[in-house]
Amino acid sequence: MVAQSVGFDPVRYKETTREQWQGVAEAWRRWGPTIEDWLGAATRAMLDLAVIGPGDRVLDVAAGAGEPALTIARRVGPTGSVLATDIAPNILAHAATAAAEQGLGNVETRVMDGERLDLPDAAFDAVTSRVGLIYFPDQGRALAETRRVLKPGGRVAAIVYTTPERNRFFSIPVGIIRRRAQLPPPAPGQPGPFSLGGDGVLADVLARAGFRDVRTEIVPSPLRLPSAVDCVRFEREAFGALHQMLSGLPEPEREAAWDEITAELGQFEGPDGFAGPCEMVVGVGTK
Ligand SMILES: C[S@@+](CC[C@H](N)C(=O)[O-])C[C@H]1O[C@@H](n2cnc3c(N)ncnc32)[C@H](O)[C@@H]1O
Repeated sequence: MVAQSVGFDPVRYKETTREQWQGVAEAWRRWGPTIEDWLGAATRAMLDLAVIGPGDRVLDVAAGAGEPALTIARRVGPTGSVLATDIAPNILAHAATAAAEQGLGNVETRVMDGERLDLPDAAFDAVTSRVGLIYFPDQGRALAETRRVLKPGGRVAAIVYTTPERNRFFSIPVGIIRRRAQLPPPAPGQPGPFSLGGDGVLADVLARAGFRDVRTEIVPSPLRLPSAVDCVRFEREAFGALHQMLSGLPEPEREAAWDEITAELGQFEGPDGFAGPCEMVVGVGTK
């Protein structure tokens, strides 16, 4: 379990996180093709490292609008199945709709907190989570729950951001908003986008949760869009935490923050468009 600093309220944090994702659910679905282009390489690495194949029963935690759960559903085929879970019903509803539209009868969705899996022991061959674990106030508890629901020999696989320096498409907006809104950075042990991204941190939390054969792989994941303005539009519409961080500022100051972010992200525009620096780490372990 990670240490929690004084003043941090995990219950309130979780409620706020849920509200944020309720609010941007439609945008996360609408930006789906951009997200797949951005996270596709890391996702393939995650599914390969977790050796997900035909017939597997897979749990996807913090499943969002349905990817990668639907890709997994195609991979496990009709003899396998996927349970997609998320704390925010609005975003998970998009996953259910997409599964139905794509004729995937082997996908089930259930609203569920990733730290409290209302599921039997030893029920899954693999548990995946793409950019989900970083939002959990108690990552140790979430991984203990993951381990409980895995069959012996089952695999956990997760994708998280590495460091702020290597994810400037996101750390620049976060830094500008934090400075303008006079917000402190998350204390060590608190959840946050880069909380598991330091060298060896993801491997360490997996090992401490009792997983063996832990491995990690770094996957460069540049965010490619036509322009910096498009990147800001994506982050404004689909990254609810940024709105939350800005909420204490009057409207003109919020606009000024977005203007500064757009100007700063302009440095990543080139002749081929915008390529925002982003790097993911994929971690896998076996029960
Ligand atoms: C960045 S989105 C990722 C969604 C999806 N995995 C993807 O890669 O597109 C983060 C997701 O984590 C979910 N989430 C945050 N805290 C959670 C918790 N405690 N339990 C379950 N899901 C949670 C949010 O509702 C949101 O859908």
